[in-house]
Amino acid sequence: MIRITIDDIETQVEEGTTILNAARKIGGKIVPPALCYYSSLKGSGGKCRACLVKVEQASARDPRPMPKLVASCCTPAQDGMVVRNITSPEVLEARRGVVELLLINHPLDCPICDQAGECDLQNFAYEHGLEKTRYEFPRRTFDPIDIGPHIQLHMTRCILCYRCTLVADQLSNDRVHGILWRGEVSEISTYIQKAIDHEFSGNMIDVCPVGALTDKHFRFRNRVWFLIPMDAHRNCAKCCGKVVLWLRGKEIYRVTARKDEYGEVHEFICNECRWEHYNLNDWVVEGPRAFQPWSVINANKYHANTKELPHTLYSKLDNERWNEFEGVN
Ligand code: SF4
Ligand code: SF4
Ligand code: FES
Repeated sequence: MIRITIDDIETQVEEGTTILNAARKIGGKIVPPALCYYSSLKGSGGKCRACLVKVEQASARDPRPMPKLVASCCTPAQDGMVVRNITSPEVLEARRGVVELLLINHPLDCPICDQAGECDLQNFAYEHGLEKTRYEFPRRTFDPIDIGPHIQLHMTRCILCYRCTLVADQLSNDRVHGILWRGEVSEISTYIQKAIDHEFSGNMIDVCPVGALTDKHFRFRNRVWFLIPMDAHRNCAKCCGKVVLWLRGKEIYRVTARKDEYGEVHEFICNECRWEHYNLNDWVVEGPRAFQPWSVINANKYHANTKELPHTLYSKLDNERWNEFEGVN
């Protein structure tokens, strides 16, 4: 085991553990945000830079600081390493830059986007971003792309995190989509518009951190904060059969896999469980699904838990230097 200190809290982890996972072991407010890393997908991470941290001391043997901020999701912890996350103004300022970059071409779609209320980018921008933009140039746009009977792709919302391509690679043998081109014109696309239709394709919707991949059966039908999420299961020959049912009354509006506190699925579900069992009698309902106390999904349901909002964490940030820019509010 090796020792690592993050925001003045020491913990012990196994050799090879990343800084992000060491922070997750400590838990709570010091865990860096992650938009592209996904623990159950091999090769994920290193794309979005949301998880940047400052390494004040590289290790006990080499106590020098690392010269620049590092991505915590793909930097291994070293014995005696000292890391700063929310206690470093430099890190928080860098994240503002990451938010700004991610939002340069992002549409102002939240009011009509199905991901609103459970969107990692929305949370990230809310916690770390500015209320205005300095960007005045035309945003990149894409023609709508049909990628199959179940999934709608809104390329304008994609942050190119690669998670969906990893799901297709690792949960099926027939990946037909990927990232085309380079730089600003990069886009998710299918091979000559070939539809994605494999048994586990729906998991791409669950791993997408934004509203780029949405469920055609659910889109525009309801908002997540109006629905009651319930854990439920059924006997399924193809997957674990453990899901979350999103209910209004007795009507099932959508079925998703279960996500942990970091928004990650560990037991992926098949398309049959996701889209072919909208009858409540098909399921054994276990009980209400718990969400982070600050999640908007709790709104109007669990009053006792909705006191602390994430932005209170960062209220001591100095906004003045950033606010002097002439931005579009
Ligand atoms: S993907 Fe997230 S940030 Fe973008 S429009 Fe949808 S809810 Fe808003
Ligand atoms: S569509 Fe979603 S999961 Fe796929 S690369 Fe874009 S943001 Fe990531
Ligand atoms: S989560 Fe680390 S770079 Fe995206």
